[in-house]
Order: sequence, then C-alpha cells, then structure tokens
Amino acid sequence: MIGVFDSGFGGLVVLREFLQLLPQYDYLYLGDNARIPYGTRSDRVVLRFTEQALNYLFRQGCRLIILACHTASAKALRTIQQVYLPAHHPDNRVLGVLIPTVEEALARSRARRIGVIATEGTVSSQSFELELKKLDPEVEVFQQACPLLVPLIEEGEQEWEGTDMILRRYLEPLKAARVDTLILGCTHYSILQDKIRAIMGDGHTLICSGQVTAKKLVDYLRRHPDMENLLSRRGGRRYLTTDLTPRFQQLASLFMGQPIDSELVEL
Ligand code: DGL
Repeated sequence: MIGVFDSGFGGLVVLREFLQLLPQYDYLYLGDNARIPYGTRSDRVVLRFTEQALNYLFRQGCRLIILACHTASAKALRTIQQVYLPAHHPDNRVLGVLIPTVEEALARSRARRIGVIATEGTVSSQSFELELKKLDPEVEVFQQACPLLVPLIEEGEQEWEGTDMILRRYLEPLKAARVDTLILGCTHYSILQDKIRAIMGDGHTLICSGQVTAKKLVDYLRRHPDMENLLSRRGGRRYLTTDLTPRFQQLASLFMGQPIDSELVEL
C-alpha cells in the first residue's frame, strides 16, 4: 500500500495525479486536519507531527509514503530519511514533493530565473533554494511567502476579488524579477493556478507538484522493483483524517474533484 500524507486536504491534489497514472495500487491518504497549518510551525513541531503520521501509516501497512505536504517535505524529510527511517523502518521508504518539483523547474527554465511561492515555513527553510542551487549553482531563485493563500482557500474564497488583489501583491515582485518558471510550492496553490497564470502572463511556466511528483513516482517504481513488488495492487483507496468538521466534505471535494468518505483517526 502507498501512503500519502499532508497536513490537511491539500495533498488530495497530489493523490489525484497518482490515481491517474498509477491506479492499480492501494492508497491510504492521511490528512492531519486537526493540526493544519504546518506552514507557520517550527521545524521541531513539523518533524514531530510528520513522524507521528508516518508511524500511523506504517502501522496500517504502508511500505512507501509520499509526503504530499511541501512544508513537511522542506522541513522534515531529510531527518526522516537520514535518522528516523534507518532507526525505525529501514525497509520502508518516504519520498517528498520538493525534489521532483525542483528537477522539473530546472528542466523547464531557459532564463535560469526561478520563482517559488510557498508557505512561510517552506520559504524560511530555504529548502527550495538550496536544492535548486545544488543542482545548478548558476540559477537565480526568488522566493515569496504567501501566508494568506492557505486560509483563503480553506475559507472557500478563491473566487473573491480580494484574493485576486492579494495574489497580485504576492506575484508582483516575482514578475519584476523576470522569473520564467514559477514553482507552486504548496499543495493548495494549484487550486489558484488559472488566476496565477493570468497574473503572471504569457511566457511563464508553472510547476505544479502533483503532476510532477506522479510522473517521478512512475519512474521511481520502475527503478526500484524491490519496493514495487511490496505494494499491494487491488485499486483500494481509504481516506483518513484527524478531524472531521462539517466543512470537510466540501473542501475534500474541492481538492479531490469528487466527494470522498473519510474515517476519523487519532495519531
Ligand atoms: N500542506 C501545506 C504545504 O504544502 C500547506 C498547508 C499548511 O500550511 O499546512 O506546504
């Protein structure tokens, strides 16, 4: 079984892409809706919450888990791969959304000027910049934290004119910096991708982590047949959440594109 973890509903946009390209596997989605947002929390807390989620998903039988959350990928994945997995689950794997996104951005950018929009936590971790520069020391990276976007989307305000105004304010410095490629470095932002594309104008490539990570997962499984053989293939899908509010169905449908049945769990 493949586990997909996010701080909330946003990771459903990533899962959706996996289901398109790799429908044969069993998937277990976990959204930590009781503790979202992760984007404003410290490294220590994001790591602790993420480890708790991984423990839960491994106990359910996942062998491979994708951190669909950019904040968790930026702040916790390295420690998870280097310390947590070898100590607790040496035969299991955890992958993130950051590296696939970075690789795709570098492959697509001609001007070598890449913009990143993300949560405050992801931007302050500098992870995107570090990973981009590791692969191409010449690339120029322009980051913009967009702390208002997650709450606006969670409040269902994506069509509000105030959201357009706030988006323009966030994107203006990146336009002025003449980036040719823009990484949407947060699960939620793909919901606003048409507006972002319209504001950035022609000649910009938007990188959405869901599509990119799904393509890279296909490639990963091809290159790692030992892991691929461990994954169950009955086309099962289960959705777990740490909080179930009346708005849950509405938001889950927004991200997933269809209603889902979720089970309430405690980590
Ligand atoms: N899932 C988070 C991310 O991709 C956004 C929501 C949050 O702040 O937890 O960074």
